[in-house]
Amino acid sequence: MEKILILGACGQVGSELTLALRKAFGTDNVVASDLNKPKGDLAEGPFEILDATDKAALLSVVQKHSITQVYHLVAMLSAKAEENPVFGWDLNMTSLFHVLDLAKERFINKIFWPSSIAVFGPNTPADNTPQHTTMDPNTVYGISKQAGERWCEYYHEKYKVDVRSVRYPGLIGYKTLPGGGTTDYAVDIYHKAVQSAPFKCFLSQNTKLPMMYMDDAISATIDIMQVPKDKVKIRSSYNIAGMSFSPKELHESIQATYPDFEISYKPDFRQAIADSWPQSIDDGFARKDWGWSPKYDLNKMTQTMLNNLKKLLEKVE
Ligand code: SER
Repeated sequence: MEKILILGACGQVGSELTLALRKAFGTDNVVASDLNKPKGDLAEGPFEILDATDKAALLSVVQKHSITQVYHLVAMLSAKAEENPVFGWDLNMTSLFHVLDLAKERFINKIFWPSSIAVFGPNTPADNTPQHTTMDPNTVYGISKQAGERWCEYYHEKYKVDVRSVRYPGLIGYKTLPGGGTTDYAVDIYHKAVQSAPFKCFLSQNTKLPMMYMDDAISATIDIMQVPKDKVKIRSSYNIAGMSFSPKELHESIQATYPDFEISYKPDFRQAIADSWPQSIDDGFARKDWGWSPKYDLNKMTQTMLNNLKKLLEKVE
């Protein structure tokens, strides 16, 4: 029986992935861990307070629970890492090396580690960005993900480490607030819409970015971990695409439900980050190799986000 450890389980992806994995594989087989204490549903299952940069502590949790697979979701995102370059680099890389080494030393047999559209840079073709192309990331986060991809492939080639990865686009879900990303405006905007508050956007109106609804990201993550080894042909990280939209298009899709919802634009330092990233992604390899296919487009996501946030708001009131 596989036993799973999730690092960074209280984060935006972790808090949803933990519940999905527990549902699929049984609560007792999925150990969540984070620097912070769990809240809500997350607390209803095995949990360890864990600093993923502490290798001894990590090994001790792995041995205590006889862990066989690790989902590594610890990261400082793009905007936050620009404000803390050394800390961001150190957190993102040290935690990854510890997990890769656990697999190299055969304490665990499989790893999931997400990469990001941030691996691309200003000289990458922005439309329908290919899997294999120019990559010149110019953010600390992007550089750490690009380096991480190279190291994942290296550990696979040299040490037969079974590490699997997808390049997440901007992720949008209603269960948690994200922290410190450039794509996060697309989460905040829904909260403002249901609160009938105006939204001030830190990107300009026509800045189009690749995005994905959280349920699709969770499916991609679980699916790539389930397919037989030989189907995972790319061991750096797979492009995956959900949808692409600009703040203006997102605003319009929300206005179908809230016609009076107002937006204003005040681009800040995050505009340059967004400008260096692709607008849309070619995910042909993921579709061909392991059957990737997203279910949400912009309007379906908007309806789901607004309905759920409204319900949550009504509960509080
Ligand atoms: N959502 C991430 C960020 O904006 C990109 O992968 O930092």
